[in-house]
Amino acid sequence: MHSLNRQEIIDWLKNENSRELDDLFFAADATRRKHVGDEVHLRGLVEISSYCRSACTYCGLHAGNKKAIRYRMNSEQILKCAIQAERLGYGSVVLQSGEDPQFDMKSMEQLIRSIKRETTCAITLSLGERSPEEWARWRDAGADRYLLRFETSDPFLFEAIHPDALRNIPSRVDQLPVLRQLGYQVGSGVMIGFPGQTFETLADDLLLFQDLDLDMIGVGPFLIHPETAFGTGWVPREIDPTNQVESSVDMACKVIALARLLRPDAHIPSTTALATLGGVDGRIRGLKSGANVIMPNLTPTDLRGDYAIYPGKNVSFETAQVCRMELFDMLKSIGRVPGKGPGHRKRSQAPTNPSFTPKT
Ligand code: 5AD
Repeated sequence: MHSLNRQEIIDWLKNENSRELDDLFFAADATRRKHVGDEVHLRGLVEISSYCRSACTYCGLHAGNKKAIRYRMNSEQILKCAIQAERLGYGSVVLQSGEDPQFDMKSMEQLIRSIKRETTCAITLSLGERSPEEWARWRDAGADRYLLRFETSDPFLFEAIHPDALRNIPSRVDQLPVLRQLGYQVGSGVMIGFPGQTFETLADDLLLFQDLDLDMIGVGPFLIHPETAFGTGWVPREIDPTNQVESSVDMACKVIALARLLRPDAHIPSTTALATLGGVDGRIRGLKSGANVIMPNLTPTDLRGDYAIYPGKNVSFETAQVCRMELFDMLKSIGRVPGKGPGHRKRSQAPTNPSFTPKT
């Protein structure tokens, strides 16, 4: 019994032996069952605005994309979605957007208060880098969780893919403890397989998940958007092609499995990006490799297509009701059950280092 070290993580990420990988997925699935059980928590995702002030080189909603269609939901529309989340039996609602300053401290505060007044849903915010004052006010208003992916732990890569990252503010990694101190359950994560990402960097990302003691870990394959810098063929750095992480369902499942082994009691979604790349099978594979959360889309169907952070996102325009039925059937078919209540992270008493001996 020993914890996974950096070299072992790299070896797993590079491993292509399907029998050995089955051992990894099996171990991650067993760890998931032991620490967080068979419940799959459903978080209703509402994409409240496609406006963004940032210039990220990977995201279709970056400020410079003139072809992106911008929309902003009003408070009444958002509240309706939260009420629908509750009716569908989802214990929480995730409010996500580009970095849209129009949702300022006051308007978000009022929105959070009204959702808390009208529903019993937990509220997760995913609104990008905002000020500690805003985060504090929203937490006071009742927000429970905050998602802020650090995207990569490599400072050079981080700056390259966030060309307008303000130089004099703490890096995203340093902002996560601020959120934790404010009392949020904190989620972070990375994209898998964007140009310039090496196996070493990704291994460091995974070790950082463990060090940060994250409550939620969201990872998904990178999907190239034509109207971005990556879409034009730009690369942040030249690397040996054999060291480039690929964007694939297999790689995403390996990262989910390793994240589960490193953080046994975290909430880990089988993400929309994984389902976009691998369809229903991709989503199921995520759930069988250590994931225990799904984020069904509750954005009104007429707006969904415009929240295009990557192509093919939100290709399903089925109503929330239909999605829910399909989801419940799918969970049943793999022996899992929909989570009840808000689905807060319960910290396990067990040591957090994995008791898994890699066979490689
Ligand atoms: N491919 C995959 N994931 C992406 N994200 C943004 N753009 C892309 C893309 N092109 C992810 C980022 C962000 C989250 C909301 O979506 O990790 O934090």
